[in-house]
Amino acid sequence: MNESFFYRGGTLWCEGVPLDAIAESVGTPVYVYSVARVLRNIRKLQTAFGPLGASIHYSLKANANLALLGVINEAGVGVDAVSGAEIARARLAGIPPSRIVFAGVGKTRAELEYALDVGIGWINVESQAEMALLETLAADRRQIVTVALRLNPGVQPATHRHIATGHAGAKFGIEPGALADILEHREAYPHLFIAGIHVHIGSQLMRIDATLDAVRLAQQLADPHSDVRTLNIGGGFPVRYGGNENVPEPGEFAEALKPVLDGWHIMIEPGRAIVADAGLLLASVLYVKEQYERRFVIIDASMTELLRPALYGAEHPIIPVREPVDEMVPAMVVGPVCESTDVLSASALLPPLGAGDRVAVLDVGAYGMVMASNYNMRLRPPEVLVEGRQWRVVRRRETLDDLLRLEQ
Ligand code: LLP
Repeated sequence: MNESFFYRGGTLWCEGVPLDAIAESVGTPVYVYSVARVLRNIRKLQTAFGPLGASIHYSLKANANLALLGVINEAGVGVDAVSGAEIARARLAGIPPSRIVFAGVGKTRAELEYALDVGIGWINVESQAEMALLETLAADRRQIVTVALRLNPGVQPATHRHIATGHAGAKFGIEPGALADILEHREAYPHLFIAGIHVHIGSQLMRIDATLDAVRLAQQLADPHSDVRTLNIGGGFPVRYGGNENVPEPGEFAEALKPVLDGWHIMIEPGRAIVADAGLLLASVLYVKEQYERRFVIIDASMTELLRPALYGAEHPIIPVREPVDEMVPAMVVGPVCESTDVLSASALLPPLGAGDRVAVLDVGAYGMVMASNYNMRLRPPEVLVEGRQWRVVRRRETLDDLLRLEQ
């Protein structure tokens, strides 16, 4: 919990709104986001990286809700998009193409054409073949396109293996030798201005050393080429899932990088650090059953609303909406989906709850709703944005008609 989510008068609030009011009006499950927390997270990154002159591009894959993107845009932050549709979404939210960075290991020709046609500011390229295609498309349009080469530095960051991207077994980026080769033969790409190197090595990075190694390697590769002086160090700034992990703050990353970044233009692409702890998933208890000495709390949210526990073994705290006074008991919080991995928490501590009681799954603002699915024909939940005492539904709950429409 944080200053945006707290108990008052025995019940859980988001900013100036009791969560019960939202649940009673729109039902559960529902995602709830705090604007104040998003802005506070952005300020924190700006304070840490501002002195390095860094430009911030929010990685919108973390949470692409249009209203939320509007808030982030107004805070003066650009975005990192990974598909043509993400670019289109960012533009719908009012973000100018010049402040959009386009990344991705498998951009299609159509996506690259679209990016060039709308004037995307910067493209992170991930292979020699992509360079060649992009050169052709830029030449056709008589355009000079600014690109960064994404380096795969072959480092192993401290994080879950599913979200490490800069190691030898990962599909991402270009290995150092091949990258040096592209730089050396830049004249083969007269319509591409290679302005920088991109080194996103993974997400939820629990230590800084691998980032430093990657940055140093990128600098060595860029060194002989005096016009390659931008380093995009990607995202990956970790958040405190569960509140008590010892995770490095953005300021610690910035401090550690500062001595090596003098003379370089810096870009960062945080996703999670901006939105994760600004969102919770509000759900209701359907049934409680005790068996084999376990307490199962079955709620109306599941792995289709929040995939992270099933996919990464992620631990999201689950708390009751009514402030607990009774003794807390261990519980497995599970959803209705027909999968054994549909466990939102195997180790929750909750007061004795009954049907209709509400719970909140915390720190789900990043990679929550964007990874939701319709498995088991479940309707994706609505999203609510809270700003002070105001709240509004910024995406409505899906209906059966929404789901069937494409098959009619
Ligand atoms: N830049 C690039 C090139 C990326 O691939 C990513 C994330 C980011 C920036 C933002 O990373 P962040 O600051 O959010 O860590 N679904 C997973 C995370 C996948 C991240 C993919 N790339 C999860 O729920 O943990």
